[in-house]
Amino acid sequence: MKPRILIVHGPNLNLLGEREPDVYGTATLKDVNAAIRSKARELNVKPVFYQSNHEGRIIDFLHRQRKTVRGLVINPGALTHYSYALHDAIIGICLPAVEVHLSDIHKREEFRRISVTRPACLKQISGKGIEGYVEGLEFITDILNNESKTE
Ligand code: DQA
Repeated sequence: MKPRILIVHGPNLNLLGEREPDVYGTATLKDVNAAIRSKARELNVKPVFYQSNHEGRIIDFLHRQRKTVRGLVINPGALTHYSYALHDAIIGICLPAVEVHLSDIHKREEFRRISVTRPACLKQISGKGIEGYVEGLEFITDILNNESKTE
């Protein structure tokens, strides 16, 4: 069976395409997921997609899925900057995780420069648009492939 990898999009990412296109581009969430799906096919992994505007629902989803998946690629949206609950959830589920941002959070408003979820992840990819998710998926897949070599 293909390893399953969670792809989680946080608040407001459902509006991609119409939301601040000058910052986030014109691709919709469907487009983003299609690019991820296509890369996943190439990498022989199965993406499991989820989007919610609610912190608790995202946390519940992570808890529910934790035993059936091997990794996490997450764009926590604005939760990035203040959700210690999400930070704790990512640590709690014990999966290799990558944090992705479409925009470069280090070159925007001061409050976006801080990521409280970053320490729970192995890597942060910021400012690469859709490519960031693809890179995140590759990063997780590399880890899984290396794990299976040493088993
Ligand atoms: C974002 C950056 C966050 O600061 C913002 O709140 C988002 C999207 C990004 O993908 O660039 O909703 O995570």
